Amino acid sequence: MKQLSKVLVVDYGSQYTQLIARRIRENGIYSEILPWTASTSEFENSTPSAIILSGGPNDAGEKGAPTLNHALLHLNVPILGICYGMQLLALHFGGTLVNGENREYGETKLKANDGCPLWKGVPPNTTVWMSHGNHVKTLPNGFTSVAETAAIGIAAMASEDHRIYALQFHPEVSHTSHGVQILCNFLFEIAELERNWNMGSFIDDTIAKCRERVKDSNVLLALSGGVDSTVVAALLHRAIGEQLHCIFVDHGLMRQGEAEEIVSMLCQCMPKLQLQTVKAQDLFLKRLVGIEDPEAKRKIIGKTFIDVFEEQASKIPNAKFLAQGTLYPDVIESYSVNGAVIKSHHNVGGLPKDMKFELIEPLRELFKDEVRAMGLGIGLPEDVIWRQPFPGPGLAVRILGEVTAGRLSILRKADNIVQQELKKSGWHRNVWQGFAVLLPLCTVGVMGDARTYDNVIALRVVDSVDAMTANWTRLPHDIIASISSRIVGEVNGVNRVVYDVSSKPPSTIEWE
Ligand code: XMP
Repeated sequence: MKQLSKVLVVDYGSQYTQLIARRIRENGIYSEILPWTASTSEFENSTPSAIILSGGPNDAGEKGAPTLNHALLHLNVPILGICYGMQLLALHFGGTLVNGENREYGETKLKANDGCPLWKGVPPNTTVWMSHGNHVKTLPNGFTSVAETAAIGIAAMASEDHRIYALQFHPEVSHTSHGVQILCNFLFEIAELERNWNMGSFIDDTIAKCRERVKDSNVLLALSGGVDSTVVAALLHRAIGEQLHCIFVDHGLMRQGEAEEIVSMLCQCMPKLQLQTVKAQDLFLKRLVGIEDPEAKRKIIGKTFIDVFEEQASKIPNAKFLAQGTLYPDVIESYSVNGAVIKSHHNVGGLPKDMKFELIEPLRELFKDEVRAMGLGIGLPEDVIWRQPFPGPGLAVRILGEVTAGRLSILRKADNIVQQELKKSGWHRNVWQGFAVLLPLCTVGVMGDARTYDNVIALRVVDSVDAMTANWTRLPHDIIASISSRIVGEVNGVNRVVYDVSSKPPSTIEWE
């Protein structure tokens, strides 16, 4: 296997760290992020071909502020410090900083000095983006100033002998007009890396690594039919074939025909996949009897999922590994630059601590759109890759109040109409999610000449890029009208449809 060039991005807490990693990959070099708190052996084992020290919110040198692990300097590869990273390098090599005088934020003009390889193809006067109050006052020994701005003087420094460079501004943001060129100059002119990363090579590399790690053991995967777990299944299936054992827990809370569709899609894409479906609707519904509180519902569903998964998993011999579709944003959320864990990531609803499996997370360095590209690259069809997200607890969080077989049936019929109309109008691919919610109340209506007292369905359609924020979709009125009249006309027990016009925040996408 050919060794990939790899850039290690050391995270000091900047909001732009992911963007740095992203820009590097976009330019054909594999990149990986580690927090500044990583151990020396983690840094060494990452075997980078170059290192970038990110920005960060702290003031370098202050008590408790993140520090530079000297092992990084001993790896003897080119280093680029950005903002906070520049300040750490300056302090380490004996320079000094100014705190807060002549602050410079936002766009500013940079005068780049001739002769520094960072500026190849960059005009001598260019616009850059600054975002920090501190900056270098006196240069460390062996460094020269390679760019200045009017307000702060030293805006970039270099020690060409040590192959260490540093920028006070952020080349990774689009406001820096030649930022990508500057990063590429570091990667290709200074570090002399070879562009050898693309999705195809990454897929091959990941498959080879999984094979090497798993050897002749078995691997378990809870497959939901969502994009992430399906891509993991496809990758591992290609890597280890029948040693991969997928378990699809059908909790009976799927949309109309969805469980059957998922199984048939998986069998079609991967005919030899070892897939076991466990039909557990009765158990889930039994445990949900009388439960109205949203959190209680979620907990019961999560626990029941684990019970069912564990029982099935225990029947598979020699299962040493558990595969998960953890994505890069989940990894980032699982540590913080201050050492405190924000959230432990898991995709199976919180596996018990005493499950003695080693985790395999082949997507842990990827962003969602990269996972989609990987799925396509490995041959999964477009409609699998572009499935709308669906919550783990399924329709249970879209039935407000108690979940019963009867209420599930009403919601399924209404939701099916929503899906059909969104697909027919072409809006299905334009929106993040569109679905029906069954409300826990009845209202008066009139059908024919008779009074009705029936359920209300809320229609929820949102635009979003990452589900962290969302806007209600301005769906054309005629689409809302056909959804509404079809639901009231075709679904027994519903006499009213309302459209949810709230955004996230302050609302959430799901109603529970
Ligand atoms: P909220 O309702 O928090 O949802 O705005 C954000 C996104 O997450 C999905 N969602 C879930 N996904 N398990 C999941 O796998 C869950 O328990 C869950 N709850 C919400 C939701 O559909 C939306 O895309």
